[in-house]
Amino acid sequence: MKLHIDTHRILGKRDPMIYGHFIEHFHRQIYGGIFEPGHPLSDNDGFRTDVIQALNKIKAPVLRWPGGCFVSAWHWKDAIGPKRVPAFDKAWRVEEPNTFGTDEFIAFCRKLGCAPYICTNAGSGSAEEMSDWVEYCNLKNEGQWAKLRISNNHTEPFNVKYWSIGNENYLGGEIGAKSAIEWGRLVCESAKMMKRVDPGIELSAAALADLDWNINLLQNAGERLSWISIHQYWDGLWQKNDYADFQSCMAFTNTLDSQVKKVRGLLAAMDLDKKIRIAFDEWNLRGWHHPNVDSGLSADDYIKPRDLNDENSRYTMADAVFSACFLNMANRNCDIIGMTNFAPMVNTRGLVFTHNKGIVLRSTYHVFDMYVNGLGDTVLDTFTSAVPVLKVRSKEGIPTETPALDVLATLDSDGIIALAAVNKDPVNKHGLSLTWSKEKIPNKYTIQTLSGNNPDSYNDIDRNDAVPGELIVKEYRLEDEIILPPHSLSILRF
Ligand code: AHR
Repeated sequence: MKLHIDTHRILGKRDPMIYGHFIEHFHRQIYGGIFEPGHPLSDNDGFRTDVIQALNKIKAPVLRWPGGCFVSAWHWKDAIGPKRVPAFDKAWRVEEPNTFGTDEFIAFCRKLGCAPYICTNAGSGSAEEMSDWVEYCNLKNEGQWAKLRISNNHTEPFNVKYWSIGNENYLGGEIGAKSAIEWGRLVCESAKMMKRVDPGIELSAAALADLDWNINLLQNAGERLSWISIHQYWDGLWQKNDYADFQSCMAFTNTLDSQVKKVRGLLAAMDLDKKIRIAFDEWNLRGWHHPNVDSGLSADDYIKPRDLNDENSRYTMADAVFSACFLNMANRNCDIIGMTNFAPMVNTRGLVFTHNKGIVLRSTYHVFDMYVNGLGDTVLDTFTSAVPVLKVRSKEGIPTETPALDVLATLDSDGIIALAAVNKDPVNKHGLSLTWSKEKIPNKYTIQTLSGNNPDSYNDIDRNDAVPGELIVKEYRLEDEIILPPHSLSILRF
């Protein structure tokens, strides 16, 4: 493949929040994940210090919480103050202890140095409950909720800037599901009340690439929104834990931007594409496994199977290569995608797995590490030719094809040109030749590659088969062809 790099052809500056995260009150993400009071590896606030260290390394920019489906029947007021009342979580049909609430979330975000992003209950909740939450977090001392925060030993406001109204209320299975018409009105009234409390907040609302839903939402509430939220999981494993194989995962990369294209078109048609950005605030190749939520009679039917999400062997180079292609897509669409949130951050299908003696950094964690710490913030538009084609089969067994290579070019403030070069071919290496419009052709570069031993390589408590190799310094000449190994991500810096 030939790639032409022109540092004057700039697509835009990516928002650091495209490397964001999501965590939900589901299974072991909060309790036993980030929050484990009394654990030897936890600090005085009960947070796992090994998790915090790992997330600091990838500069987590924003964290969305508390759900996800969970939030659509949860009441934030049950989880503040000295006396926490456990509640039955009607989304996931387990008891929620409510010992991790707003105050704990803000404390955790401060340890990560990331922006809190709160998703409100637009299922069983109300505009008043949502706006009371903004009072609790952002008012100095006016009214009962700010005064309650102060009485909970938080004198200063939390200043939460990012808020989302609802989670997937378009889905029939979501508690408090809404019609498109109901949704437009609810978001309008909720946004009005929340912005009356703090006009400085940036609001999003649950959406998807559906014309009817989005037209109602944007006609009713568009003037009060800064974001529109979309979600996607490609390998749907909620009921059946039948993982797509490597080549099927590569077939999924053909639809990375399907929703983005549609939402972008609608925002442009409504003259909102310069005002509202996309928050792709839940994404993962793998859907979470939580079978029989509506029908499970016993814990074995619907709670125990959730443990299967924690099998580290499932998070292979397929997940890493797919995630790298997604982040390439997000960078290329940086003019309209301002935030993405990997779902979730810890345990379930997350970047980091916790166990009693420490953590496992899954293959996808290393992708974030390589992108956040290896690429620049200015995204370049590149011209490619002679792109090798990879023939694959979809999960349904339908033959299709996809470009074997996916290469993103970026520029940083020091003039460093960095490439994220992905080889989706599970078997063959492929060459990458570069042409430059740059006056001075570089004469050396560094390269670091994540490839594993095979497409199914993974990391676990007792193995590290999917970790980046050494950083290598190489001489460079214009006629060189850079070899990209099969099933790999390489970061090249010139
Ligand atoms: O499978 C987990 C769920 O996926 C999240 O709670 C929800 O937001 C999405 O549908």
